[in-house]
Amino acid sequence: MSRELIAFYSRADENYWNGTLKMLHVGNTEVVAGLIAEMTGGELFRIEQLHPYSKDYNECTSEAKADQSRGARPELKAYPESLNGYDVIYLGYPNYWGTMPMAVFTFLDKFDFSGKTIRPFCTHEGSGLGGSVSDIRKLCPDAKVETGLAIRGCRVNESRHEIEKWI
Ligand SMILES: Cc1cc2nc3c(=O)[nH]c(=O)nc-3n(C[C@H](O)[C@H](O)[C@H](O)COP(=O)(O)O)c2cc1C
Repeated sequence: MSRELIAFYSRADENYWNGTLKMLHVGNTEVVAGLIAEMTGGELFRIEQLHPYSKDYNECTSEAKADQSRGARPELKAYPESLNGYDVIYLGYPNYWGTMPMAVFTFLDKFDFSGKTIRPFCTHEGSGLGGSVSDIRKLCPDAKVETGLAIRGCRVNESRHEIEKWI
């Protein structure tokens, strides 16, 4: 039987949240990933950098910007052993500078997504999905990349209905 994977990147720590800086103990994208897992019975996988960005929001934004500018592929802590057996992959990430964090690019580079369905979801503070879906299509040209879901980070706890509809 085919299983569903929910692969997500999310950073707790200090974040920009509804116009102010706030310490988050669970990242916004992780909240959405958890709801999707609850609704679909899919398996969660956290995409995690070996060397995480700073807990300080402003430092983190500079580090992420520098990585994006040089097209970095930050090393990850771990990968799923294989994607065999998963036909559908929910791919979650925060919008970082208009697209995905570069660690998500690392994850997409690692596997062959031919014939798989990717359902992108993102949390953000105003830019929605930005260019992320088109970047996923470039990285995974033989995957079926479906319409993405964008949820404002400060509204993730009220997003259950929207997620249900999208699924
Ligand atoms: C490095 C960095 C860059 C960001 N760039 C954007 C951006 O370009 N557009 C936007 O709407 N939000 C941006 N944000 C806000 C995040 O997308 C938003 O807070 C998101 O919900 C964080 O998800 P997380 O808690 O799962 O990491 C940025 C946040 C960080 C830390």
